[in-house]
Amino acid sequence: MDSITAVSVRDVRKTYEGGVEALRGVSLELPAGKITALVGRSGCGKTTLLNLCGAMDFPTSGEVEVAGLVTSGLGDKALTGLRRGKIGFIFQFFQLLPTLTALENVELPLLLAGASNVRATARERLDWVGLPEKADSLPWQLSGGQMQRVAIARALVHNPAILIADEPTGNLDTASGDLVLRLIRRAADEFGASVVMATHSAEAAAIADLRVRMRDGLIESVE
Ligand SMILES: Nc1ncnc2c1ncn2[C@@H]1O[C@H](COP(=O)(O)OP(=O)(O)O)[C@@H](O)[C@H]1O
Ligand SMILES: [Mg+2]
Repeated sequence: MDSITAVSVRDVRKTYEGGVEALRGVSLELPAGKITALVGRSGCGKTTLLNLCGAMDFPTSGEVEVAGLVTSGLGDKALTGLRRGKIGFIFQFFQLLPTLTALENVELPLLLAGASNVRATARERLDWVGLPEKADSLPWQLSGGQMQRVAIARALVHNPAILIADEPTGNLDTASGDLVLRLIRRAADEFGASVVMATHSAEAAAIADLRVRMRDGLIESVE
């Protein structure tokens, strides 16, 4: 069976105010259920491309289609719906809300999306990342690896079609990083999420189905 495309990037350029050309003509298809790793040195445009795939920013030219919608054409309401309904985010520094418990952090995307039965679903995801006993812990009471697992539970709680991960193991020791990578692999396999992950880590790139090497705002190779 041919794979379904979750995100389609077509001939995209991105020039920031001030004139930096972060992307200089990039085309890429992100398949559902697969992990795509973006690799390349700092400044080559990985985070810029992730932001476009997450409908958090827009191309200067070309277009990005996310879950069937061209992002540049969307109004605020549709954009918010797309981000909250279809996309999950994981960051290098976790970005958990410090005053909320682990469980409350995981519930948040569901609350924002207006879902019911929020608590039970959030508990299910916290179990899935192996942290049922940390539900009532605050982020500062968790290790880095545990915080990232909570962040993964939060990113997946609404079954997003697209999971965006920016250097997800960049701040973790090897053992915690490996655990996080296994969860990311399972997110693609079990939930069918299209994962796009920017990474400097060879271990992270190794779990990907597709490795996209970027250089100076261009794709150098895909393997
Ligand atoms: N908001 C911004 N405003 C201006 N320039 C930016 C902005 N974000 C990134 N850049 C520049 O765009 C280029 C690509 O950055 P980025 O996408 O963050 O690369 P990477 O994630 O691969 O390190 C860099 O030259 C960076 O300095
Ligand atoms: Mg970056």
